[in-house]
Amino acid sequence: MATLVVGGAGYIGAHVVRLLADDGQDIVVIDDLSTSTADRIGSVPLVRFDVAAEGATARIVEVIRDHDVDAVIHFAARKQVGESVAKPLYYYQQNIGGMVNLLAAMEETGVKKMIFSSSAAVYGEPEEAVVVEDSRTEPINPYGRTKLIGEWILADCERAWGLKWVGLRYFNVAGAGWPELGDSAVMNLIPMVLDRLAKGEQPRVFGDDYPTPDGTCIRDYVHVRDLAQAHIAAMHALDGDLPNRVYNVGTGTGASVKEVVETIGSVSGLDATPVIEERRAGDPPKLIASADRIKADMDFTATAQLPEIISSAWEAWQAGPRRIEK
Ligand code: WQD
Repeated sequence: MATLVVGGAGYIGAHVVRLLADDGQDIVVIDDLSTSTADRIGSVPLVRFDVAAEGATARIVEVIRDHDVDAVIHFAARKQVGESVAKPLYYYQQNIGGMVNLLAAMEETGVKKMIFSSSAAVYGEPEEAVVVEDSRTEPINPYGRTKLIGEWILADCERAWGLKWVGLRYFNVAGAGWPELGDSAVMNLIPMVLDRLAKGEQPRVFGDDYPTPDGTCIRDYVHVRDLAQAHIAAMHALDGDLPNRVYNVGTGTGASVKEVVETIGSVSGLDATPVIEERRAGDPPKLIASADRIKADMDFTATAQLPEIISSAWEAWQAGPRRIEK
């Protein structure tokens, strides 16, 4: 029996693939390599195509049968918030279309287990600073809506044909479990700061007049290695009787943008004095996960704190093509 990892060559997927492979499990990856490279998954079998493309269901059925798949972990999706606002139909076609094709193949072959990459983006701009899974879900962009709709589709398939599923709502994922598996995209705070430093520019802080202790936004940073472990915990939990379906993955504590930038400065030994710029539209001042539910139901806790996350991100950056010489 094998686990199918869809989007397994990506930043988070490759970490989960590494953990499963190190554990000696059979794995097959489907990935279109649109934002990643095959070397991230070593010798794990890779079938290259886009699960949202026309005719994908038949190809997924074939992969499931060829590899005797009994569980699926689904990462493959577009995830740029700004792009999702500009191209909503592309996001619905890719994220919802891909999910529907995948579930259709699972229904056809009788595969009943799925772990789904959801996001804190399903909450939008919550009123509570510490978000529980039952907090109101009101995403504020098409990207977040595709994730929430994804959860609804899974719930409908559970009712209709007995799918067993878990949706993991990721908070701010960062770091690297292995230096060669760092986040190659420059889309989030830590890579964006490192990118600026690599260009010899000052990091940017988008707004320091928020109602927080140092005036900058607070987020819950979770180490990608911890997040990968959460998928393993969820896979085990699916074999039992889980009382819930959706779970936050965060640490339950927050760090401000200024703290992140300062820690990057101290870890790297570089001058990371930031420039303060205007607020970025749509940034909630404070977003922290309640990590209680996943602890209670799966005995999972994300343990790495900010310095460790940033050290691993720095090490991965230095192992990559844009190494910063001091
Ligand atoms: C963090 C904080 C910025 C860059 C996004 C998505 C979310 C999820 C995770 C996928 C904010 C500030 C950033 C910079 C800065 N994605 N910042 N200077 O916005 O919390 O979440 O990624 O699931 O859906 O919205 O993450 O890393 O972009 O920003 O001051 O150069 O850092 O304004 O306060 P965010 P982020």
